[in-house]
Amino acid sequence: MQRVILSLLLLSACALAAPTQQQDSQSSLPSQPQSQRATDLIYTPIKPVTDEDRFTTRKPDIKLTALKKVKHAKGNIVFSSGERISGDKLLVNNYDDESFTTAEDIEVEMTYKGNAITLTSIEIYVDTTADDASAYFTAGGIGKSEASILLACNQTRTFSYEVFFYGY
Ligand SMILES: *[C@@H]1O[C@H](CO)[C@@H](O)[C@H](O)[C@H]1NC(C)=O
Repeated sequence: MQRVILSLLLLSACALAAPTQQQDSQSSLPSQPQSQRATDLIYTPIKPVTDEDRFTTRKPDIKLTALKKVKHAKGNIVFSSGERISGDKLLVNNYDDESFTTAEDIEVEMTYKGNAITLTSIEIYVDTTADDASAYFTAGGIGKSEASILLACNQTRTFSYEVFFYGY
């Protein structure tokens, strides 16, 4: 009887060990090198805000510096800061979009932090059902190694943006 139990235990031990072994061999495969850039940009989702929790309510002491609006057609806005220079390159870009069943005030916060880089130019392309939107620096900026940006849009049902950070 004891021998039967023992072999049952051995069998189940083998069964347990088998998938574990497989997993081990999988995880020992050379893993895809993580893109360094991906970790340099952090951003929030496009999220609805109320007067109680919008950025300027939560952080009243932070000075907002508007990016230039270089193009503004209804629902189609391009923001920019700085200028491309020879030798700079695209450091990171990011696209996001969201839609809502009713019109919402929305905000997006993002921070790009580079390692030993200098930002030369930032461009943001916005598409929205609202007429207008805003983009502000909340920290850093052109000539610095990092920049934090607040994107805001009131009473919109859809919002999409693509941001490009250039530097050297
Ligand atoms: C959105 O509405 C708030 C509150 O009325 C206002 O302070 C803010 O300037 C508006 N933002 C935009 C982008 O129009």
